[in-house]
Amino acid sequence: MTEPEPPSVAALSLSETATTEPKGASEQEINPWDVQAATDDQGNVLAFDYEAISKKWATNLIDKALLERFERVTGHKPHRWLRRGLFFSHRDLDRILDTYERGEDFLLYTGRGPSSGSMHIGHTIPFEFTKWLQDVFDVPLVIMLTDDEKALFKESLTFEDTLKFAYENAKDIIALGFDLKKTFIYSDIKFYGSGGAGHFVTNALEFSKLITFNQVRGAFGFDASTNTGRIFFPSFQCVAAFGSSYPFIWGEDPQSDTRFAKLAAIPCLIPCAIDQDPYFRLVRDNANRMRFPSPKPALIHSKFLTALQGAGGKMSASNPNSAIYMSDSEKQIKNKINKHAFSGGQETLELHRELGGNPDIDVPYQYLTYFEDDDEKLQGFYDAYKKGDMLTGEMKKECVDVMIAYVRKFQEARSKVTDEILAEYMKIRKLEWKGNPHPTKP
Ligand code: TRP
Repeated sequence: MTEPEPPSVAALSLSETATTEPKGASEQEINPWDVQAATDDQGNVLAFDYEAISKKWATNLIDKALLERFERVTGHKPHRWLRRGLFFSHRDLDRILDTYERGEDFLLYTGRGPSSGSMHIGHTIPFEFTKWLQDVFDVPLVIMLTDDEKALFKESLTFEDTLKFAYENAKDIIALGFDLKKTFIYSDIKFYGSGGAGHFVTNALEFSKLITFNQVRGAFGFDASTNTGRIFFPSFQCVAAFGSSYPFIWGEDPQSDTRFAKLAAIPCLIPCAIDQDPYFRLVRDNANRMRFPSPKPALIHSKFLTALQGAGGKMSASNPNSAIYMSDSEKQIKNKINKHAFSGGQETLELHRELGGNPDIDVPYQYLTYFEDDDEKLQGFYDAYKKGDMLTGEMKKECVDVMIAYVRKFQEARSKVTDEILAEYMKIRKLEWKGNPHPTKP
């Protein structure tokens, strides 16, 4: 027997309307296990409304002033994914900048649910961005691979399957170039059972004691037939944001309360897709209730990567034509973009020359906004496409070239990640980092 999937957060909060809605039209639904764009009454999929979700969940949109401050404080031009709004929302990012300005440490934390052995560009982009943050801030980073979560939430997957995927995914992640000295990658299943995870597990237990079933049900839409692993799991994903969960990173095994309290007080920044926000609202609401309180972790939220089929779709591991996989050959990439990428061009060449295309819905153009760093060049494509001077085939060609270069570079690096290298990243150990070289004294 298969268990019913948990009802979504959106379905829960719209429970009065959800069942009476006419077929076809539906609201967008965003939660950690299910992400669907709204549809109109004809059943056509609409683009995600990110401002609406930010408003609904009361997150802050990243604005120009914050990006200017980011550049002032770090001395780095904001990454193109910040400039172009792929990372569009945050909670308390300004407080992380305060911390950095004072020259104090913080912890970077991100993760992935290993639901399959291969990753696509929609999976690698958040990690690329996290690596960039790590380079900019020079702080320790933990990467949580939630093999426990994926097996608990997917009936067809065993813990053996997801553990295997976690190792495969970790190799992909390492291939993106994370600095070994500053990065700890862990499989939940392996980590919990290891000697180094004592504080992590105790934190999870203490956290779970603070949280009632009503609270997780409210946040995730669980019901009385939800398996109990799913109900406990959020405590793990939450306490992963506490410095006190990883004393070894600071070379410690704290015996005294004062030391432990200091580790607990270390701020944390979590880059994640916006669908993960419900987890982190839970930790933000309860972190100060721990015996050794932690500050509310800061968040920086990304949008979903557009599927090849166009806005409103999400790249999916189960649909090979929805995304470019990091294991795709050059021929496959070319084929996918030429055959499956949704085009904002006109039906015929004549019409395109006359009316121009629509880059805003053109998937090859959208992909170029992910990977072409040169703002002027990109603007040039945008303008030329709109005017009809640049053709669909030409836009696709630019996209294919950029994607092939990205995937080729990745595959070269991936082929060098051996089991020994993997073991080093996953070893419980002290990390080394410098932090802010020029702190401004408060
Ligand atoms: N739950 C996430 C997923 O299914 C994995 C995850 C754990 C995560 N911790 C995280 C993602 C922190 C982003 C940030 O993919």
